[in-house]
Amino acid sequence: MKSQQIIIRNNESSLSNEKNQDGLSAWMVDVAPHTSSDKTDYTCVIFRNMTAEYQADQIRQDFVANASHELRTPMAIIKGYLEALLEDNMIEEPDIAKRFLTIMDKHSNRISRIIDDMLAISKLESKEEASINMEEFKINECIVDVVERLSPLISENKANVNVYIKPKNLSFNGDKFYWAQIMFNLVENALKENPKPGIKVDISAYCIDNDIIIKVTDYGKGIPVEALPYIFKRFYRVDKHHTNSGIKGTGLGLSIVKRAVEGHGGTISVHSIPGVETVFTIKIPN
Ligand SMILES: Nc1ncnc2c1ncn2[C@@H]1O[C@H](COP(=O)(O)OP(=O)(O)O)[C@@H](O)[C@H]1O
Ligand SMILES: [Mg+2]
Repeated sequence: MKSQQIIIRNNESSLSNEKNQDGLSAWMVDVAPHTSSDKTDYTCVIFRNMTAEYQADQIRQDFVANASHELRTPMAIIKGYLEALLEDNMIEEPDIAKRFLTIMDKHSNRISRIIDDMLAISKLESKEEASINMEEFKINECIVDVVERLSPLISENKANVNVYIKPKNLSFNGDKFYWAQIMFNLVENALKENPKPGIKVDISAYCIDNDIIIKVTDYGKGIPVEALPYIFKRFYRVDKHHTNSGIKGTGLGLSIVKRAVEGHGGTISVHSIPGVETVFTIKIPN
């Protein structure tokens, strides 16, 4: 009998009874016949815990599937309008052509955004340390800049955005580029998930012992408790449908935020009571 390899996937519990995070484990079992020196035949069985490799593979597969799915939708829309322009001769109708081109422009911007976000993630994942350029900068300047960039959305939502930084000149060592992305994403989420007028958003930064705490709080619709465990996963959105009011984000924002915060040695957590408050808390060693 030849040696045989079997992979067992088990979503109940692992053989050693230790459950991993997702309650899923994978094992490689090698089975081979042997004969001992006293000529007794026996079967050698080796169990190897392959859970980490299996999960990494699963994450890669999910990523490719999700990325293709997310890119295919805007691509199909662009293709449809291109066909209408070229084959149905809509190009002869300037008003219609302009409308179609505007829609195509919007969807090609979406493709660019997804690609930029995927590149940001892959950069953070590949050589996390090398891709972070540390320099000292003032948190206040970063936040003021983010609020300024979001001012069209703030005016549109008639939002009330407050910034509390103590001390005012609080600064730390980090990559300005990533901190701008982190803060932009959190504040943008608070605004875009709550488009009804008058949403209140508080941004605060302060020191506790040797840590800097940064919080983004909104008092809007919140995140359902069952969605909280998935919120930092790639491509995850609570509302999966593209609404008529415009295309929502890529679902990559918070996974970039998490990786960038962790790349700085920090942590991020979320707490949400739907309809009351949603708080994202970042803690970084000072
Ligand atoms: N402040 C918030 N209030 C309500 N839902 C939120 C908030 N922040 C994030 N979310 C939910 O988390 C999802 C993932 O956020 P994110 O990764 O930034 O993706 P995106 O903004 O591209 O949709 C959002 O689609 C939204 O459903
Ligand atoms: Mg976002």
